[in-house]
Amino acid sequence: METGVFPVDSFIEPNGKNIKEVKLLIEAVMNLVVDHAANSESHPPLLPDFTEQLFDKFSLDGVPIKELLLQLETILKYSMNPLTPTYMGHMDSIPTLISCLSEFVTTALNNNMLSFEMSPVFSKMEVQVLQQLTQMFGLGRNAGGVITSGGSLANLQALAVARNSILQVKENGLTSLTKQPVILVSEASHTSLHKAAMLLGIGTSSIIPVQSNLHSQMDTQDLERKIPILIQEGKQPFAVVATAGTTVTGSIDPLLPISEITKKHGIWLHVDAAYGGALVFSKKYKSLLSGIEQADSITFNPQKWMYVAKTCAMVLFKNRDLLERDFRISAPYMNETEFTNLGEISVQGTRHADILKLYLSLQHIGLKGYENLINQSFLFAKEFTSQVKKRSYLELSGESNTNICCFRLFLKEYQQKQQDQLNLKLQQFLLKNQNVFLSLPTYRGKRWLRAVLLNPFISPLTIQQIFEKIDEFYIEHCNDQSLIK
Ligand SMILES: Cc1ncc(COP(=O)(O)O)c(C=O)c1O
Repeated sequence: METGVFPVDSFIEPNGKNIKEVKLLIEAVMNLVVDHAANSESHPPLLPDFTEQLFDKFSLDGVPIKELLLQLETILKYSMNPLTPTYMGHMDSIPTLISCLSEFVTTALNNNMLSFEMSPVFSKMEVQVLQQLTQMFGLGRNAGGVITSGGSLANLQALAVARNSILQVKENGLTSLTKQPVILVSEASHTSLHKAAMLLGIGTSSIIPVQSNLHSQMDTQDLERKIPILIQEGKQPFAVVATAGTTVTGSIDPLLPISEITKKHGIWLHVDAAYGGALVFSKKYKSLLSGIEQADSITFNPQKWMYVAKTCAMVLFKNRDLLERDFRISAPYMNETEFTNLGEISVQGTRHADILKLYLSLQHIGLKGYENLINQSFLFAKEFTSQVKKRSYLELSGESNTNICCFRLFLKEYQQKQQDQLNLKLQQFLLKNQNVFLSLPTYRGKRWLRAVLLNPFISPLTIQQIFEKIDEFYIEHCNDQSLIK
């Protein structure tokens, strides 16, 4: 290749000629990133006043590396910062270092999960690691699954297999159906299920909400009641989705009773354990998932509570053969092997090898390490929740089953709208004055503050200081010290 046609460090040259320039560039980028991450406690979790016109000078004239490194510095500065322990707003965790490094390995190798020949190592790794996880969930010997780019795709694929398997519509589509297919989900379930219904051609109206109790868990009596009513109305309930770790409150639906109901009616049970699936790694808390072994399919996102860099999610099936029978579209242009090309049994074709970061994180951190991380985050949540309970001006949304605390400032004499405004103000106050980011979900028609206590570097002092600030806000705005015990 003629030199000077493109920058010398554009590629890692296969003949090793530019190794010096390559290593210099890698070192420069690594230094920037590592210095930023190792100092992330002193950066705010969010920069609400992001006004810099970063991308309007976008140039296609060949920008020197020095300039690109300067741009990277700005990008690091203004990016959302889930690394700091005071980022508590969402299920975004600090990533394991090995998962970040894995990304470099997989992108440098640039294999393709579409087929076995294009990713022989990673394809086998994915099948074997996922099979081990299916065993941990108790799905049995015939289980298997695929990695997906996030939980939404996992839910979509689970419901596609459920639809094809129960309604037998893989070939002829929905036109032959005489009854409207419907899916029952708790009212606290994730919106990706509506998206899935829309994409599956059964429409968002096919999602039937089941009531949830005070602690945001599916009310099984309401589920039992609704199924025969739907059937009477001429509809066909073909799937129930239970959630293990609801998005707002971290609640876990009663999986075992739900599985008994689905079994009785011959309905597919999908468990959206995008968040709570991580509990299989904790001996102490695993029983919270009791009943998940009865699921026909499970969504699990290690990108959340397993601290694996995004994206890393999966859909698992109790009977892997259904994935082959009711979902697989063969690609005859691929070399035939005994090994199923993963691109034929997943929504995505070309796909990144997300499995490596999970595989390396599991081995590096180990069962014990993950168990400690999970158990510790329960302790943080317990402490956080007890601080809420100590203050009569704060209200809990309910008891969470996991490490999420959803609460709000509640003053009886305030109208609903004023309460919502006050909580918005408190959220902004914490962000501005203490770099604490809590999210502000609307739930049951009200605004709440939500803390997801994921970061292993949270300390008791972090929690104490947050509540001192909340007290300060309360005294400043509501001026009644007697409500603080
Ligand atoms: C319970 C639950 N299911 C599914 C999803 C969707 O996952 P993703 O954002 O990875 O698509 C989320 C996201 O937070 C979730 O909380």
